[in-house]
Amino acid sequence: MKAVKVGLLGLGTVGGGTATVLKRNAKEIARRAGRGIEIDFIATLEPERAAELGVENIRLTKDAYEVVNDPDIDIVVELIGGYSPAKELVMQALENGKHVVTANKALIAIHGDEIFAKAQEKGLVVAFEPAVAGGIPIIKALREGLSANSVEWLAGIINGTGNFILTEMRDKGRDFDDVLAEAQALGYAEADPTFDVEGIDAAHKLSILSSIAFGIPLQFDKTYTEGISKITQEDVAYAEELGYRIKHLGVAKRTDKGIEQRVHPTLIPERRLIANVDGVMNAVLVKGDAVGATLYYGAGAGDEATASAVIADIVDVTRALTTDPENRVPHLAFQPDALSDTPV
Ligand code: HSE
Repeated sequence: MKAVKVGLLGLGTVGGGTATVLKRNAKEIARRAGRGIEIDFIATLEPERAAELGVENIRLTKDAYEVVNDPDIDIVVELIGGYSPAKELVMQALENGKHVVTANKALIAIHGDEIFAKAQEKGLVVAFEPAVAGGIPIIKALREGLSANSVEWLAGIINGTGNFILTEMRDKGRDFDDVLAEAQALGYAEADPTFDVEGIDAAHKLSILSSIAFGIPLQFDKTYTEGISKITQEDVAYAEELGYRIKHLGVAKRTDKGIEQRVHPTLIPERRLIANVDGVMNAVLVKGDAVGATLYYGAGAGDEATASAVIADIVDVTRALTTDPENRVPHLAFQPDALSDTPV
């Protein structure tokens, strides 16, 4: 069978990781997907990066619309981030009949409903595993592995940059700005790092998780959002002295009044598992009524870790290309007419 042709928008940290891992594990990935997967066209403002990454024989352009309008492309992988032009590009790709994989949590959290409606209308898939918690397959866990459960709550460390900063401040007494600069250099941070340190990135991710877990619409604007930018070296040291760790958590909980959503720094006793999730690692706890508490742990950012989730979605979409659209797992697993009992 002919290889599936992928068009990549962006060749930054995650785009580079995706090209590298797809090449390295091509055989195994093709076996799992049922056919070969080939990056055919890349939009990047830094074409010289392709050569640095050993990406050869792939068409390059600086105009992302050339990729989404290319008739040969089956799947568009959006890795440029931000709201615009990412939204316009994704909508255009769907209009053109292409499936989409995106790592863009801001895009899904704010424009997800519109994007999924378009995908539904066109019978296409928009997959977004890499948008939340990097390499941890938390979207698949919630949508598939836990689908028998009524979720009671979920809580987690869902911003790798913030956790890296708090860990380095505690372990090495490093300065906030110095660690943030390192997180940027390592490709962990958002293009605008205030999204990381003011809790916005975590709130985007939490609203996506919450929507899937509780079957509610995306509600970023209703999420209480506080970041770590006011945490000082003294705060971290005092917490340690008292036997606690400061962790930035996202929490979504079913209450009598609806679903509560909040992201903020939290004091956690140091004996707790989640208190020991350090560096760029993320962890998400999910409590289901049938399964009880479950814990998902792994790298929350970084090139190959996030690429792992991107490629998992490409594999899923590749399988979906040959199956009945009616049998696909719905994008956000909620039925719009069944929302009345979950006001926020
Ligand atoms: N800036 C994000 C983080 C990248 O640090 O978690 C992964 O979503």
